[in-house]
Amino acid sequence: MTSFMPWSDKFILGIDSIDEQHHWLVDATNRLHEQVESQMQDDTALREILEGLVDYTVNHFILEEELFDRLGYPETDAHKAEHDDLTRQAIQLLLDFEKGKAVSEEALEFLKGWLMHHILRVDKAYVPFLQEHGIK
Ligand SMILES: [Fe+2]
Ligand SMILES: [Fe+2]
Repeated sequence: MTSFMPWSDKFILGIDSIDEQHHWLVDATNRLHEQVESQMQDDTALREILEGLVDYTVNHFILEEELFDRLGYPETDAHKAEHDDLTRQAIQLLLDFEKGKAVSEEALEFLKGWLMHHILRVDKAYVPFLQEHGIK
């Protein structure tokens, strides 16, 4: 079975710690999709995946932003604004779920689209800058 969001070499930016985290996020998106689509939906499992995803995402953003702040990345503000926007939406998804609202296919598609755009365009843009500063 093809996964919802197949991992691809095009996501590899060449900075190992960041690539590992992106890979984890893509895998977690697939786990979330699998659980949402499952005939035998398990709310506890779904909550765990959702909470794990929110938690990991926030930590990933902190890691990137700490690098930006430390090295003086010029695009920091715009990049942080994208992170903040996704964080708000992800937390809202979790709150809605806790109030009994199902995780929609639409929300999954949004998450997948956001991740693809963010890794391939917004994160990719910082690679030359970070590499110039010795991050690998
Ligand atoms: Fe980012
Ligand atoms: Fe990232």
